[in-house]
Amino acid sequence: MDLPLFKLEDYFSKWEFKAPYLLCMSDSESWSLRDILELAKPETLKLWNNLSLGYTETVGHPLLRHEISQMYSSITPENLLTFAGAEEGIYGTLQSILSPKDHVIVFTPCYQSLETLPKQFGAEVTSIPLDANKGWKLDLEKLEAAIKPTTKLIILNFPHNPTGALIDRMTLNKIIEIARRNQAYIFSDEVYRFLEIDETKRLPPLADVYEKGISLSVLSKTFGLAGLRIGWIASQDNELLKQVANIKHYLSICNSAPSEILALIALQSRDAILNKNREIMLKNLSLLDIFFEKYKAIFEWNRPLGGCIGFPRLLLPTKIDEFAMKLVDEQGVLLLPGNYYDWKGNYFRIGFGRKNMPEALERLEKFFLKK
Ligand SMILES: Cc1ncc(COP(=O)(O)O)c(C=O)c1O
Repeated sequence: MDLPLFKLEDYFSKWEFKAPYLLCMSDSESWSLRDILELAKPETLKLWNNLSLGYTETVGHPLLRHEISQMYSSITPENLLTFAGAEEGIYGTLQSILSPKDHVIVFTPCYQSLETLPKQFGAEVTSIPLDANKGWKLDLEKLEAAIKPTTKLIILNFPHNPTGALIDRMTLNKIIEIARRNQAYIFSDEVYRFLEIDETKRLPPLADVYEKGISLSVLSKTFGLAGLRIGWIASQDNELLKQVANIKHYLSICNSAPSEILALIALQSRDAILNKNREIMLKNLSLLDIFFEKYKAIFEWNRPLGGCIGFPRLLLPTKIDEFAMKLVDEQGVLLLPGNYYDWKGNYFRIGFGRKNMPEALERLEKFFLKK
């Protein structure tokens, strides 16, 4: 199986550990091991200190699954399967669900594996673009029109990478209705859940509200713990979870034992982590609002509704990939050009979850004012 280049991850392999100012990362500021351990309850600290470094349970540590289930209303620990990050969950779930000739609907631009992997597993993929001129709106009529008798799966990702778009509850209900009518699964990538700018707009996890819904989540993005590589899927469909667990046996087999306990510590203190990460994100977003208002002749800003990333557009005649390469060269500031999402129109991804964003923004300003 010849997998196509994962353009975005390949770009980060080249730049992420080289460029000093990462102004396009999709995660919150990373937490240190010391800070996470300081949050530990005495009984969990005991688990950490006495941890045996053997294999762990394929489905995930029972205490970790119990803690994860607390973030859902209809999901029990038995409805959860943990993974090495979200990416392994995407791979295993899509491979389990899809066979050649199945039809899949995905909304673009999107995190590449959500579109590439269904094709790789032989499915026919219809990609529906979100509407940039209407605040990255999802067009329900286009979704209805794309449905076929063979439609097996609809893929969602809200809050959305890279635009920060969010659908409302009525739109979600309508999508569930369409899927249910066609007995299709919905795979909902919810890795930015809890980072909605207006928390009253937070959607329920899909696995809670749809019997053929699969919710994907992870500690990488909202929680700023990407190095733990702990992700999970939640679903009421336990048969599907069993099939995906079998694929995990061929991949990571089980999670890293230390990561599971650190993930447990983090989730037991999730409010403290979320409050800190949201504070950084909201402060940075208000700086971006001022910046983009000041330079509205240079950038078009579609304010994100969730997540710590947005997808502005460069209005200068310079191509965004050339702009980005000069910027990283001269100021050490990394942007992610929209071409890495196969998205035309001079868009780029900007990230605002990191503490040093204000400094990176100042360097970006210095860069184009000099031109
Ligand atoms: C929408 C989306 N899904 C999944 C992933 C993969 O997450 P992880 O790095 O935890 O595997 C990412 C990472 O950028 C993402 O943006």
